[in-house]
Amino acid sequence: MVDPSEIEYSALSLDITKQPKEEIDQQIDEIKRLIGVHLSEPYSIYVYRFFLNNWPELCLLAKHEGKIIGCIISKVEAHRDVRLRGYIGMLAVEEAYRGLGIAKKLISLNITTMKNDYKCDEIILEAEVVNKKALKLYEKFGFLRVKRLYRYYLNKHDAYRLILPITEKSTIRSIFSTPLPPDQLVEAKY
Ligand SMILES: CC(C)(COP(=O)(O)OP(=O)(O)OC[C@H]1O[C@@H](n2cnc3c(N)ncnc32)[C@H](O)[C@@H]1OP(=O)(O)O)[C@@H](O)C(=O)NCCC(=O)NCCS
Repeated sequence: MVDPSEIEYSALSLDITKQPKEEIDQQIDEIKRLIGVHLSEPYSIYVYRFFLNNWPELCLLAKHEGKIIGCIISKVEAHRDVRLRGYIGMLAVEEAYRGLGIAKKLISLNITTMKNDYKCDEIILEAEVVNKKALKLYEKFGFLRVKRLYRYYLNKHDAYRLILPITEKSTIRSIFSTPLPPDQLVEAKY
């Protein structure tokens, strides 16, 4: 049995002055493998690069003895130019490490960064309707089911869209909201 205190959590770093490029590329390969094995939806390298290059601090890794055993990947963008919306895109924990609270910790750290550093007004995600474990996990954080997306995934499964409202802006329809000032319009660079 793994001692949860031995798990280390850190954000992905793409800084080649701190780490050789080969090591960074190897980490990205490990992340791709982990997500590829545990999520039903296949993602191309461009999807990974879009998330990781733009928001490396929102790619949090759980490591045991130097090996990546858990990962959450998110982004933040302006939604309809009126509020900042965090989006949790991918989450997976290696089977041998499940039930230890690793996903809970990754989500909690990720939400804290999106709230405190990005000043997100809300966070959303999608989860398969059949993925009871993930739905329970997110609902414990206060995420609410807002929409059922029929045949959302390539495996034809439906998804629930979940939302965690953070500020009052999240509760106001965008048409009645004031546009964000241009300097707050977080956008993807790459
Ligand atoms: C979903 C997943 C990330 C959970 O990872 P984990 O590290 O085992 O989760 P945790 O140990 O942090 O568990 C947190 C909560 O999840 C729920 N949970 C965990 N295992 C569960 C199980 N077997 N049955 C029901 N709920 C479960 C519980 O609510 C638990 O909280 P509790 O311990 O207070 O009861 C992991 O099972 C996984 O990688 N699954 C495959 C990929 C996936 O489904 N990703 C999510 C896509 S939206």
